[in-house]
Amino acid sequence: MIALTWRPLVQSTALMLAPLLGLLCSAMAASAAGLQSELVARGDYLVNGILICGNCHTRRGPSGEILAPQEVRDTALSGGQTWDEAAFKVTAPNITQDKDTGIGDYTDAELRQVLRKGIKRNGARVAVMPSGFYEIMTEHDLDAVIAYLRTLKPVSHAVPAPIYKRAQQHEIPPGGETPYSDAMLNDKIARGFYLATVGLCMECHTPWQSQAFADRLGAGGNEFHGPWGVSVSRNITASNSKGIGDWTDDEIKRAITQGIARNGSKLKPPMSFQYYANVSAADLDAIVAYLRTVPPRD
Ligand code: HEC
Ligand code: HEC
Repeated sequence: MIALTWRPLVQSTALMLAPLLGLLCSAMAASAAGLQSELVARGDYLVNGILICGNCHTRRGPSGEILAPQEVRDTALSGGQTWDEAAFKVTAPNITQDKDTGIGDYTDAELRQVLRKGIKRNGARVAVMPSGFYEIMTEHDLDAVIAYLRTLKPVSHAVPAPIYKRAQQHEIPPGGETPYSDAMLNDKIARGFYLATVGLCMECHTPWQSQAFADRLGAGGNEFHGPWGVSVSRNITASNSKGIGDWTDDEIKRAITQGIARNGSKLKPPMSFQYYANVSAADLDAIVAYLRTVPPRD
């Protein structure tokens, strides 16, 4: 008797709970999907903004001009610049989801390793790819970049395999040795340093010579050759006479996001203002706040 009444009771409770459980599951799925789309949005913001991945991995215009990510949607990140130097000849590869010519069949672990450590899936150390500047990247931002890369439409475009003539370096800028935590980004100057590091400002604006990060951080002077002729990275230290110490915040922001120098002239490649234009106002403020702390160098 008891068993007979007990069973229908359980069944009917289960029947009553089923829709609730269903709701709960779909709510959980919805919030997981929400988290995933948040991650993808963050990756989109980073990759097409401060990270300037397309500066190298996207083909440029006929005069070597950098095309804004929104101008090149169809071919974005499907392979770009070639460097032919004493130590290597290498082309920035296709990083769309194409399985044959891109990174469609890379695992997340393989992507993490190449992004942060500069080691490709075949064990080779990358040339040019500034992975040492990504050691600082928060776990969340690294996940976001990878999540965004996974959403890229496959584009079939093969680039030549790299030729290495010497062992490649994995240079880590001082202060960028270990991943930042999300909490560290709440401090404005720390956030500015973080963004300027992953955004490669000091990779281009610090002289390419030994000890320069300690002695000549941001002093400029590197030459970039291309169809535009030669451009020379400028002094972005807080020096009043040689750097940007006496520029207003707005002048600095205009140079970063619109490529317009203080005197109104247009900045040449590879200054990547087409990407930095997508950096948020709060992040720009943090970058400027950090630049104000870079010791003046003449
Ligand atoms: C300064 C130029 C440059 C920038 C900036 C750059 N890369 Fe690269 N990247 C390269 C080059 C060149 C290679 C190939 C290196 C080699 O094969 O030795 C490469 C390799 C890679 C690979 C490995 C692909 C493969 O076939 O093994 C991935 C993935 C990648 N980059 C993603 C990114 C992402 C994401 C960003 C932005 C966060 C980025 N890169 C920024 C130049 C760059
Ligand atoms: C890929 C190399 C590269 C990267 C990355 C880069 N710059 Fe530049 N930047 C240059 C070059 C080259 C110039 C000079 C262009 C010219 O003379 O036409 C320049 C010019 C500037 C200027 C103008 C200075 C003046 O005296 O006119 C500022 C300011 C500046 N960069 C700040 C930054 C900041 C901040 C970042 C990071 C968010 C950054 N740059 C990232 C290469 C780079």
